[in-house]
Amino acid sequence: MDGHNLAGQRENNAVAQVIISFLKYEEYALKEVYSLRVKKWESISERQKGMIPNYTEYLANLKTSIQENAKFFKSVAEYAMQSIKIEPEEIVRPSDMDMSKTCSLLTQVYREWSAEAISERCCSHSRLIQFLRTVEPSKTDILIPGCGTGRLLVDLSQLGYNCEGNEYSYHMLLVSQYFLNAGLTQNQAIIYPFIHCFSHWKGNEDQLTPIKIPDIEADSLKKGMGSMSICAGSFVDCYGRNQGTKISSHYTFSKRMQMSRAKAENSKDVVITQFFIDTGPNILDYLDTIVHVLKPGGIWCNFGPLLYHFESDHGVETTYEVNPYSGFQDKINDSTPLMGLELSSDAIISIATNRLNFKLIQRESGILSGYGRYTGPESCAMPGYMCHFWVLKWTPSGEL
Ligand SMILES: C[S@@+](CC[C@H](N)C(=O)[O-])C[C@H]1O[C@@H](n2cnc3c(N)ncnc32)[C@H](O)[C@@H]1O
Repeated sequence: MDGHNLAGQRENNAVAQVIISFLKYEEYALKEVYSLRVKKWESISERQKGMIPNYTEYLANLKTSIQENAKFFKSVAEYAMQSIKIEPEEIVRPSDMDMSKTCSLLTQVYREWSAEAISERCCSHSRLIQFLRTVEPSKTDILIPGCGTGRLLVDLSQLGYNCEGNEYSYHMLLVSQYFLNAGLTQNQAIIYPFIHCFSHWKGNEDQLTPIKIPDIEADSLKKGMGSMSICAGSFVDCYGRNQGTKISSHYTFSKRMQMSRAKAENSKDVVITQFFIDTGPNILDYLDTIVHVLKPGGIWCNFGPLLYHFESDHGVETTYEVNPYSGFQDKINDSTPLMGLELSSDAIISIATNRLNFKLIQRESGILSGYGRYTGPESCAMPGYMCHFWVLKWTPSGEL
């Protein structure tokens, strides 16, 4: 098997693992979420059981909610199997991490595809759209790395922008494919996105809130819009520089990716990072990649917190340099920490303006935004994240 086939086989296995994790959601959630709570209830004394007479009814509703969520995941899995012609074998075993990502997808779907989360989406979308309206109408090619399940692509392409998303999680990719292509009708399905969180609730009914999805018919909206596509893979790997970036878990040295990166150079008018810039082990690779894809005069808009995903991760990765002509490997470090380089927004803006030829156009900090947050009356859910919004213009010649 050559390198390309090997990579293809690995990808197939990864997709299959995610599909199986969708199909096994019910079994997993009944075992790990529902049954353990039934056991706990059974373990307490009759006197204490009497203190919570409605608890068995709550547990029965929890079970039904899991079964309803399972129907959603089953239809996503079936659509994926049919559209990418894959029949995952039962021997492919999803990891606990796969299963927990599947559970957390429910709040991502709520965030992106429900009417209830409109105000949460508006917090960033309104700022982005307001700014984009001030930009020359010819600047229409937008790249959105870490696009999740694709809602921002839909909202912007509806306004006539040509949007390319980029995403490396197969969980997100399979769900985005379902919402964007399966021809869903408005409010077609019901999910219970909050049932995997057991803290902070005012009442049980809040945790068990049913949510109708999607709030729009993404398929029909595609007509008359700007173009829309999603590129699967790591942002730096797909769009980064071909020279001067170290090989790592998110940047590979292969002909295929080299060609992808060469094609990406100076190709976009706007890069939008929404809840993304804090996701990588090396934020400077992200900055270099943004510069690489922008056309001269291009814009970088960022919205989100700086909650560095690897801040507490004690893992390590192998990093090294490769001479692009000889393929010679140099400066190999097989214990480069994933954590580190958690730059403040001041530091990011300073690097962008002093080192990378950006000019600061707009900046706002301390914006409170939810992320998949329940918004019912008297909600006691955590309020959300303090976000930064900035707009930078890349002016390599020093001119505006
Ligand atoms: C916090 S989520 C934000 C999703 C979406 N932008 C939103 O606002 O709802 C971060 C997303 O970035 C993706 N991601 C993280 N690192 C990535 C990388 N190196 N390349 C591409 N996508 C990445 C994750 O899979 C996830 O979907």
